[in-house]
Amino acid sequence: MSTSVAQYPDLAGRGVLITGGGSGIGAALTTAFAAQGARVAFIDIAVEESRALAEALSATSQHPVHFIEADLSDVAAAQGAVNEAAERLGRLDVLVNNAARDDRHDLETVTDSYWDENLAVNLKPVFFAAQAAVPHMRAQGGGAIVNFSSIAFMLNMGELPAYATAKAGILGLTKSLAGRLGPDNIRVNAILPGMIVTERQRRLWLTDQSIAAMIERQCLKRMLVAEDLAGPTLFLASSASAAMTAQWIIVDGGIL
Ligand SMILES: NC(=O)c1ccc[n+]([C@@H]2O[C@H](COP(=O)([O-])OP(=O)(O)OC[C@H]3O[C@@H](n4cnc5c(N)ncnc54)[C@H](O)[C@@H]3O)[C@@H](O)[C@H]2O)c1
Repeated sequence: MSTSVAQYPDLAGRGVLITGGGSGIGAALTTAFAAQGARVAFIDIAVEESRALAEALSATSQHPVHFIEADLSDVAAAQGAVNEAAERLGRLDVLVNNAARDDRHDLETVTDSYWDENLAVNLKPVFFAAQAAVPHMRAQGGGAIVNFSSIAFMLNMGELPAYATAKAGILGLTKSLAGRLGPDNIRVNAILPGMIVTERQRRLWLTDQSIAAMIERQCLKRMLVAEDLAGPTLFLASSASAAMTAQWIIVDGGIL
């Protein structure tokens, strides 16, 4: 079902950090970068599955895969984890801002603190992880940042206003960071997944009917899975996209 992934020789030996790399799409990205021969670390709060993933990949990959436990909504913890990753990897060339929480919430019941907590997970760490990563990338003479947005903010979905705000904001942030960091040879791009059927999505929101309905809206008549994000992310991280910055790629099977 999932596609095979190209090798990008320039990614071998690179230092790659993935936020939320312990499960879902992030786990597929962690696995894909490790398979490129990159030095990989990931930050997550899901301890059990993250430990298991790091252990399994370390046993089969060229380099050990490092799990760093941190809550990204805590700026000091997030930035400490980025610095720890750079230290453990020996270099930091690629940052993938993937972590998020797509909780549903209702217009009538969202409070001041709920709003802040939601954006503290879904938007704030994208900026502060980048801020911490930049000095390490500058020391390497460049780098690539890939930010995960979502097509959800373009589908007029009424049940996730804070999440939609964060995901739209990530595109503005991507362009601003790209403008600021281009002179340092640091490229900043974004990916907008469509409906990707992960374990969490299935457990919380998706039914066989809603999956079938979304496939009906897609041009491609198959279910999209986490591994479908590997190819576009590797491409944006690698020198294959060396002249691309301030851009985004939609990976939705053709909904938009
Ligand atoms: N699955 C989809 O259909 C879909 C669609 C559009 C966009 N996306 C985006 O793709 C990315 C990955 O989505 P996913 O479905 O794999 O999500 P997921 O919820 O399955 O995984 C997110 C990961 O981030 C981690 N995480 C969450 N909050 C954290 C925190 N505060 N600190 C540290 N780690 C934290 C989780 O433990 C998990 O491992 C997200 O940015 C999401 O918005 C997903």
